[in-house]
Amino acid sequence: MNLAGKRVWLSGASSGIGEELAKQLAAKGAKLVLSARNEQALEQVKNSLMGQGHVVLPLDLSAAESLLKELPEQLAAIGDIDILINNGGVSQRSLFADTDFATYQQLMAVNYFGTVALTKLVVAQMQARKQGMIVAISSVAGKVGSKFRSGYSGSKYAVVGFMDCIRAELAADGIHCLTVCPGSVQTRIAHNSLNEKGVAQNHSEQSIENGMPVSACVQEIITAIEKQKQEVVIGQGLSYWAPTIKRFFPRLFNRLTARLEYR
Ligand SMILES: NC(=O)c1ccc[n+]([C@@H]2O[C@H](COP(=O)([O-])OP(=O)(O)OC[C@H]3O[C@@H](n4cnc5c(N)ncnc54)[C@H](OP(=O)(O)O)[C@@H]3O)[C@@H](O)[C@H]2O)c1
Repeated sequence: MNLAGKRVWLSGASSGIGEELAKQLAAKGAKLVLSARNEQALEQVKNSLMGQGHVVLPLDLSAAESLLKELPEQLAAIGDIDILINNGGVSQRSLFADTDFATYQQLMAVNYFGTVALTKLVVAQMQARKQGMIVAISSVAGKVGSKFRSGYSGSKYAVVGFMDCIRAELAADGIHCLTVCPGSVQTRIAHNSLNEKGVAQNHSEQSIENGMPVSACVQEIITAIEKQKQEVVIGQGLSYWAPTIKRFFPRLFNRLTARLEYR
């Protein structure tokens, strides 16, 4: 797929993978619709992009029902979306036994229901035009579980399942669905991860600092979009190999995850 001139709606565009996606997609000639909560950060990203015609559309993914009511008018003014990238999300670092139920609801609201809502908002116009692409940034945590991430992993597994289903349903309409499962990538994800009370833990972690550089991860995501892949795992080291180890050696994998304090 040639990205030049494509209108791409990108959530989580204010930071990390989303900010870098915006930059690399704009350099390929795409026109971005930049979404996240932090409008000021979105404006800064917009001003840093190559090319013209980018717009900022602030939103809170945790408010899916309001988005479904309020966004159709704004989207109609923007025009047809060629590619939706559901990238906005939040992680978690807390043990199940310690974690408030409300924190589970928060993780599902942002990572899963936010993805479902944005996808609902574009699917009818894509079906009418018999073209389009829906991308979801799930995670290796959407393929394997490990300590401290029961709510995050649950929400990212849900995204993988949702994408598998809509890929099957929308194939006949010419709509392509890509699920991306990154391992550890050097962004603010650890800082922003929720603790047991649903508050950002506000510190980094070695696994993320030693993770893949964000520019390399985004290059692989863009290649997967251009090649219209269906699902890709992107990463390095254990975070890349974990789904394969789990698939072929599940007992070994489960013994490892019970021992590892992977943060
Ligand atoms: N970095 C990794 O190691 C890694 C690995 C696997 C998967 N991922 C996934 O990659 C995606 C991007 O994460 P990142 O690593 O780039 O982390 P990040 O730097 O923390 O960025 C997260 C983005 O999501 C947005 N966001 C968070 N909560 C939101 C909400 N309620 N409403 C709207 N936007 C919201 C944030 O913007 P605002 O704060 O402005 O709203 C920000 O733009 C996430 O889905 C994450 O789960 C990351």
